Amino acid sequence: MNEYFAPMEGITGYIYRNAFQKYGWKMEKYFSPFLAPKTNTKKCFNHREYEDIRPDHNEGLHLVPQILTNRAGDFLKLAEALEELGYQEINLNLGCPSPTVVTKKKGAGFLGEPEKLREFLEEIFQGTSLDISVKTRIGLEDPEEFTKLLEIYNQYPLKELIIHPRIQKDFYKNTPRMEAFSYGLEHSRAKVCYNGNLFTKEDYQTFCGSYPACTHVMLGRGLLANPGLLQEVHNKTPMDRETFSCFHREIYENYQEVSCGERNVLFKMKELWFYFREMFPEGKKQIKRIKKAETLRKYEEAVNDLFQNVPLYYESQMTGKES
Ligand SMILES: Cc1cc2nc3c(=O)[nH]c(=O)nc-3n(C[C@H](O)[C@H](O)[C@H](O)COP(=O)(O)O)c2cc1C
Repeated sequence: MNEYFAPMEGITGYIYRNAFQKYGWKMEKYFSPFLAPKTNTKKCFNHREYEDIRPDHNEGLHLVPQILTNRAGDFLKLAEALEELGYQEINLNLGCPSPTVVTKKKGAGFLGEPEKLREFLEEIFQGTSLDISVKTRIGLEDPEEFTKLLEIYNQYPLKELIIHPRIQKDFYKNTPRMEAFSYGLEHSRAKVCYNGNLFTKEDYQTFCGSYPACTHVMLGRGLLANPGLLQEVHNKTPMDRETFSCFHREIYENYQEVSCGERNVLFKMKELWFYFREMFPEGKKQIKRIKKAETLRKYEEAVNDLFQNVPLYYESQMTGKES
């Protein structure tokens, strides 16, 4: 199975990716959080975006930059800039469900305009020789929309089609609509990658058992919560507390180096703990202190207490079995 790390805006930037590549599983590809073309300026990237995709910030990992737009000209302008930086594949975001994006008919909002989407694809595939992959939801309001969308995708030489089988209206709720995924797997001309709700080893194995023809998966929240998930899936030693702590420290220290101010660092770290907390079911007290910390000192005290004194979820399961 080929495994990709999903793009997650605000979280899986280069600092996270590099730490994950060092302490977690070696992913086949990482997808960058979306880059949005700029209007009223010649610049292609803002500072944060450029820092994220700079080749020297992504050495040793295979990064695919992602673009969010519904204007072919803007897409091609960014594509050219990315090509100059040495990228050979770019990804188109047709999945973002956020209302601010969707009302502008971008992301999953673009799925509601199939004819415009077809024209857009026509123009971008004509306009660049870079590989283009697509990350898509299965529709805006109704999973039935997917048949028509797939017919459109099949007219173009997509590098691959990453299917997150939810409609926009699902946001991240409900379970993925596997019937639509099966349809996509069977009828897509492009190679298909599955994305959605692979949170545990059991989820992963059930998926592989049910879809033996699918050779690519993309994981997001499952890996954020449990950076050792793929070690577990592949029956390797799970990530231990010491490694988890080093992984955390690497991200924390690097955020401090690049972020301006304590508040920003705390905000970024607390965002991560929204996911990490799943690894420490017995750490409610410490997690609460992390959430409440208003200074780096208080944050560090709570985190150290957690790493020193609270078992990871599988350690508590083992102790439970022994007693
Ligand atoms: C906080 C957050 C940020 C996300 N940012 C992006 C993004 O920039 N581009 C994108 O294509 N998907 C984005 N997604 C969607 C994920 O890439 C992925 O499709 C989704 O989480 C489902 O996969 P999972 O169940 O493995 O997490 C985001 C999701 C979350 C929760």
